Amino acid sequence: MAEPSSDFSQTASLEQRVAAIEAVFETHGMQPGPFIAGMTHAAAEEWVPQNGARVVAKAWADPGFKQRLLQNGKAAVAELGLSMPAHHRHLVALENTTSVHNLICCTLCSCTAFTIIGLPPDWYKDLDYRARVVRESRTVLREMGLDLAPEIEIRVWDTTTDTRYMVLPQQPPHTAGWPEQELAKIVTKEVMIGVASLALPAAS
Ligand SMILES: [Fe+2]
Repeated sequence: MAEPSSDFSQTASLEQRVAAIEAVFETHGMQPGPFIAGMTHAAAEEWVPQNGARVVAKAWADPGFKQRLLQNGKAAVAELGLSMPAHHRHLVALENTTSVHNLICCTLCSCTAFTIIGLPPDWYKDLDYRARVVRESRTVLREMGLDLAPEIEIRVWDTTTDTRYMVLPQQPPHTAGWPEQELAKIVTKEVMIGVASLALPAAS
């Protein structure tokens, strides 16, 4: 009996495999084209981190909204016209403090609250990252440019199918009183994942 081949040079490319799957759908009378176009549009235009940035800015500017966000994230973001898929049953906002830094991941795959904070970056899905971020989170953060003081506790939250997270960063003191639109401009996807922190103004 022949040994299984380990030569993968003949493996179809990703594009070829996608085309083959689309062809199978079409064979069964389904039309994947419009569905793919719709999802591509949503990913590029609707599921953007600017949504979460609006949420963070509102929480900074409106203490009542912040309380509602911390109590029931999904209901609070709905106040801003933002929705989540039905299977994202919970949105948990994790508030950073001077002594606690929150970090989200998905050890199984790539789950995020993608309609709120945007689609997961490639590194978020990387096998090494997913394995290391829960074991040596402080080291991983340092490698990504976030060197947290040793006295700051790092809490890592593993996303599940029905519970999604977003990090609520601390508001930089120099932005106190800014309008929400301006506040939203400084909040990034990386900050809402917890691998970046908002830069403080350079000491003069
Ligand atoms: Fe996942």
